Amino acid sequence: MCGIIGITSNKPVSSSIINSLKKLEYRGYDSAGIATILDGGINEVKCEGRVKTLENNISKIKMLGTVGIGHVRWATHGAPSTLNAHPHSSESVSVVHNGIIENSTLLKKFLVEKGHKFKSQTDTEVIVHLITEYLKENDLKSSILKMLKKLHGSFALGIIFKDEPDLIIGARRGSPLAVGYGPNENYLGSDSYALKSMTNKISYLNDGEFCILKKNSVEFFDESGNKVNKKILELSSEDTSYDKGDYKHFMAKEIEEQPQTIKNCINEYLDKINKDINLLNFPWNKNEISSVTLIGCGTAYHSCLMAKHWFEQLTKLDVYVDIASEFRYRNNRFKKDNLYIFVSQSGETADTYAALDLCNKNNMKTCSVVNVVESSIARDSNFVLPIHCGPEIGVASTKAFLGQMLVLYIFALKLSYIRKDIDKENYLKKINSLLSLSELVKKSLDTDSQVQSACNSFVDAKGSMFLGRGSSFPIALEGALKLKELAYIHAEGYPAGEMKHGPLALIEDGMPVVVIAPRDDYYNKTISNMQEVIARGAKVLLITNKSTDEVFSENIWQKIEVENTDQDLLPFLITIPLQKLAYHSALKKGYDIDKPRNLAKSVTVE
Ligand code: AGP
Ligand code: GLU
Repeated sequence: MCGIIGITSNKPVSSSIINSLKKLEYRGYDSAGIATILDGGINEVKCEGRVKTLENNISKIKMLGTVGIGHVRWATHGAPSTLNAHPHSSESVSVVHNGIIENSTLLKKFLVEKGHKFKSQTDTEVIVHLITEYLKENDLKSSILKMLKKLHGSFALGIIFKDEPDLIIGARRGSPLAVGYGPNENYLGSDSYALKSMTNKISYLNDGEFCILKKNSVEFFDESGNKVNKKILELSSEDTSYDKGDYKHFMAKEIEEQPQTIKNCINEYLDKINKDINLLNFPWNKNEISSVTLIGCGTAYHSCLMAKHWFEQLTKLDVYVDIASEFRYRNNRFKKDNLYIFVSQSGETADTYAALDLCNKNNMKTCSVVNVVESSIARDSNFVLPIHCGPEIGVASTKAFLGQMLVLYIFALKLSYIRKDIDKENYLKKINSLLSLSELVKKSLDTDSQVQSACNSFVDAKGSMFLGRGSSFPIALEGALKLKELAYIHAEGYPAGEMKHGPLALIEDGMPVVVIAPRDDYYNKTISNMQEVIARGAKVLLITNKSTDEVFSENIWQKIEVENTDQDLLPFLITIPLQKLAYHSALKKGYDIDKPRNLAKSVTVE
């Protein structure tokens, strides 16, 4: 969930740690801290709130240690506070942790009985006292191995020791951790982005592994303590995605980038000369797959629902969709000829990774649709389909949602053609429509002024409904999620046809309701549902596409029209005004748009 940095160097490390923590702020967090080792002691400084506060606190003291760890926390156990912020330290050990220690209550009881004094309400603090306890009778490596065997749950750890002033221990189970290599110094980080400002030479720990970092050496070990050799990857150089440019927020920039990211993604998959889709190194032939299951969380789940619609329209495959945190506990009937597709922008979402791990343990066919190709989900899938959107910094996903939908659509279209579920003429027609998608998305961005006037009625609303049928229903869910997570307004995405079965009771005079009704096969029925809510006093914002025939426009409060295109592609265009509605509503309310309260960019806890 949150951010870890560790540096062991031949020079003081505190300012480099602070700078790296600033690069992790995009993930969303509630407190921060740093600890370094100097003259046989642990210097620990922590704060609630922003890294800037931590930096100010440090500036008042001299933090000259050449080995240190830093953390930005997203609380799971114990409220956001200075006391619960990481690092957590005993007299001899200091720890930062991402994840959840599920047996912390039992371990705390055992350690209290051993005389250990706890200061915080976190699960993390048990790690500090456990390793301190084991060091009484074991050497460092044996103590680490014993501790790792005792911990249940998920963790990425950074640990320093006052008696080992030149080393850092890193350990990983279920929460990502990387090592970076520098000149006379080495780094530990919860994701490669945090390390990119210091190095582009990276190795990744796998689950169960731990490492011993010194300034001129790094050793990796498996859970039995055997040495492991690691590839050193050279990552792409720092790109401008991490800079807001002239935009007020990363989210604004990422919404406006969508025409370009759509174009980049299409260029990666479409052979324009031969008018064909390239699924590079697709490892299975068409007879090996008779059904697909799409799995994700949040916005990624909505792109799975959207893809179900396309797979069903374009192929004769059976299609299933599940929320990752539900899938992983189901009594699943695993089938050899089912392809499990995992959708994740970060590629590190704990629930999605756990679902993938379950499928891998059952030797299933796995494919991932990700934005971070060096992520855990990508590394552990049989086949990866990158969305090529560039880093998405805003916690609320925008360009990655369109990228996920686009790759899933391209994938469904190609499978459809390989299986001869559609003929060449139809295949080529749809490829041509794809080639104009970027321009059409760009035109959708022009709805900005219409959206800004509409959002006035949302910012003070008690709640809102987003209604759609068929391919518009997943978009209704996504529009509602955006308004919830950015403007903190209760909003519910609902199948338009379902309103009369109960939720219609929610409609009251003046309630803003978004009705998504492009001129597709569901249009007339959805317009009828729209009339049902208007009749009960709703203020309807209708999102549709341009057409000569007039919609029954009586009593519609506002209408936003997007361009015309192949029905399959209308969801891309309709999503844009909904992203903007949430953005402008949050702007009007003065909320932190790139780091909404309580949320994090990559949810690596369960
Ligand atoms: C999207 O706006 C949210 N921030 C959240 O629902 C996100 O989509 C979800 O946590 C899944 O993240 P992932 O795509 O990185 O797996
Ligand atoms: N579970 C730990 C805590 O609540 C770590 C949370 C995190 O991943 O930031 O402090």
